[in-house]
Order: sequence, then structure tokens, then C-alpha cells
Amino acid sequence: MSDATRVCRAAILISGGGTNLQAFINAVAAGTLELDIALVLSNKSEAYGLERAKKAGITTACIDHTAFSDREAFDRAMAEQIDEANIDLIVLAGFMRILSPYFVRHYEGRVLNIHPALLPKYPGLDTHRRVLEAGDSEHGSTVHFVTDELDGGPRILAGRLQVRDGETPDELMHRVQSLEHVIYPRAAQLFATGRIRFEDGKTLLDGTHLPEPLIDDF
Ligand code: GRF
Repeated sequence: MSDATRVCRAAILISGGGTNLQAFINAVAAGTLELDIALVLSNKSEAYGLERAKKAGITTACIDHTAFSDREAFDRAMAEQIDEANIDLIVLAGFMRILSPYFVRHYEGRVLNIHPALLPKYPGLDTHRRVLEAGDSEHGSTVHFVTDELDGGPRILAGRLQVRDGETPDELMHRVQSLEHVIYPRAAQLFATGRIRFEDGKTLLDGTHLPEPLIDDF
């Protein structure tokens, strides 16, 4: 952001329940996240996250992806709304659509995602079951910049926990979700205050290349 006095304006993209969105709303209210959540955008009209946004007085929009002939046409419609709202940061929070190269390029270095695994391990779906099947002792979630590579962009911050004996995928999922609610607003705050940025396909922290993500242990 060029104007240091301006509060970072964010669009949060959702498809579902929006517990991460709620964590952002709470962090802004608590003053630990200096962000103006200017828009919450969903591709599903029934997404409960839309209710959470409305309760918090945030502008919402819904664009049904099934109304578009292809991925890029849908992404262009989203970009129109996002650009109208003068957005600095896009936060993917349970947004279940793959973004087109057009969208990723248009907002290069300004889109964050959270993926429920210790990336680069387990990109893709069903991570909790895969972690348990592999017998891993550690698991967690990772905030990263979005690039063309699915779940593969430069990492910023990971939350890590120890897998418990006999834990089910569901129990693990709940523990990972709880830590996401801490690390995702924290990563967004690093972006909003200009400490984290994306340059040449890499994450910079305070101007220095961050080859491995910051780690919070839970
Ligand atoms: C999170 O677990 C996140 O890791 C994944 O989608 C889930 C979204 O949950 N990308 P919610 O809608 O924020 O509750």
C-alpha cells in the first residue's frame, strides 16, 4: 500500500460456515487486526458466513459461479466487485473454487490462503485423514500467498500441533480449525502493517527473504 496512513481494505472470500471470517471480525473488534473488512464475497447464497458478515455490518455480495460459462468469466465478475471496493488484500477463507490464472495475476502478491496442513505436505483435500493414515506425529495449517500452483505459493506462517494417539480425523480437524483462528488474523496483520510482502515469487518479512514460514506451536 502506498499511503501508510490508510487502513488496509480487505475482501474475504467464502463458500461456507465462515469460522475463519468470524475470527477476522473478532480480531478487528479486539483491535489486534488493523484491517477494514470492506467486502465479504461468497459463491454460495446459503453460506452461513454471509450471515456473520451482515451481523457485523459488513457489505456482502454473492456471485453464483454456476451462472458463468467458465472459470475466468466468474473470476472477472468477482474482480469487478473487488476492484469497485478498492481492495488491498484478498483473504480466501474456505473459498472452495480454484482461481483462474487471470485472477491470480490480477492480484499478484495480494491474495492469502490458509490450507489445513503443514505445507508443502498434503496439498489438496482430505488432509486430516491423510495425516493420520501416514502416521505423522505433527500436523497443522499454513497461511501462504496464492500463486498459480494450488496450495503451493510462498508460505508466511504455520500453526503446528502434535497428533494425539487414537485421534480421529474429526477431532484433528477441530483442533486445526482452532489454531487457524489465531494464525490467520496474525498473518493478515503482518500484511496489513507492511511487514510481510510478496516479491519475485517469495515472501519477504521486514524486507528479508523468508525461506521457511514462521511457526506458532500449539
Ligand atoms: C478451513 O479449515 C481452511 O483451512 C480451509 O477451509 C476451512 C474453512 O473453514 N481452507 P471456515 O469456513 O472458515 O469455517
